[in-house]
Amino acid sequence: MSRKKVTVVGAGNVGATLAHRLVDKELADVVLVDIIEDMPQGKALDLAESAPVEGYDCRLIGSNGYRETANSDIVVITSGIARKPGMSRDDLINTNKNIVKSVTEEIVKYSPNTILIIVSNPLDAMCHVAYKASGFPKNRVMGMAGVLDSARMSCFLAEALDVSVENINSFVLGGHGDTMVPLPRYSTCAGIPITELLPKETVDKIVDRTRNGGAEIVKLLKTGSAYYAPSAATVEMVESILKDKKKVLPCAVLLEGEYGISSLFVGVPVKLGSRGVEQIIEISLTTDERAALQKSAASVQELVNILGL
Ligand code: NAI
Ligand code: 2OP
Repeated sequence: MSRKKVTVVGAGNVGATLAHRLVDKELADVVLVDIIEDMPQGKALDLAESAPVEGYDCRLIGSNGYRETANSDIVVITSGIARKPGMSRDDLINTNKNIVKSVTEEIVKYSPNTILIIVSNPLDAMCHVAYKASGFPKNRVMGMAGVLDSARMSCFLAEALDVSVENINSFVLGGHGDTMVPLPRYSTCAGIPITELLPKETVDKIVDRTRNGGAEIVKLLKTGSAYYAPSAATVEMVESILKDKKKVLPCAVLLEGEYGISSLFVGVPVKLGSRGVEQIIEISLTTDERAALQKSAASVQELVNILGL
């Protein structure tokens, strides 16, 4: 098997932790890019120097440019500014729009066939920026959010049920914002819908905590936002693509009529394989669930309108 190559743009909290997780799992050689002089080189070298102890055979390169990123199989864009206490994801929109646009343009020059995974916030809107700037087909541009939001929900459910996290499967749809749509009906413990196992008040509290999961961490950290769970969630997507595992994962993808939504990146279950987004899976929703998804899509649309794309 030929060596795989993943570029991570933005060597901050999410990017550096992601690079660490990728090499720890020996998934690919990693190129870390950041605008801060010498910083990605320092982090890449530090990670490379851990390899003899940890035993991973992956090459790590840090750079302030894009030449080294050439022919990447996957590029993850985490560059941008993160939320500070009191800031919403949407406050980040204009700064991160310019960053994601310029980064995407550079990436495309060196890796015209790559698959883009966007992490920068506001997530769904930034997917539009990357989609537009790249000119890539829709199967090669996606956003990470649903895997993270579902992981948060699973963590809270496992705690409430006092069971292994491995027993829990959660599903969260919609945009990566306060209007996201956790779906208790499709969330299970060992195949049993959690609605059969927990009282409605507990489920409602968990749904609420999931929606505010990002803000909960921001409030605790005070100087930035979450990165351990976001990087773990991104690895699951990268692994499914690199190994052509065809996992069904909630990702932000361009909908063109699915779920009654058009021309908008919104989180829905998709199959991720070597071609990127290989299938969008439509599940049946109740009237209330569908209305909640439409509301979430409307808030993504508002941001996209601000972007003027
Ligand atoms: P961070 O501030 O630790 O790192 C961001 C890095 O991007 C910095 O090192 C900065 O120098 C770099 N950067 C800025 N402009 C750049 C450019 N033009 N080219 C290359 N690098 C550039 O932030 P953190 O915590 O890593 O978060 C990164 C982004 O990911 C934020 O927008 C954050 O809101 C978002 N995020 C999204 C999540 C999701 O679920 N989609 C979860 C967690 C974070
Ligand atoms: C999160 O959900 C900030 O979007 C980021 O943690």
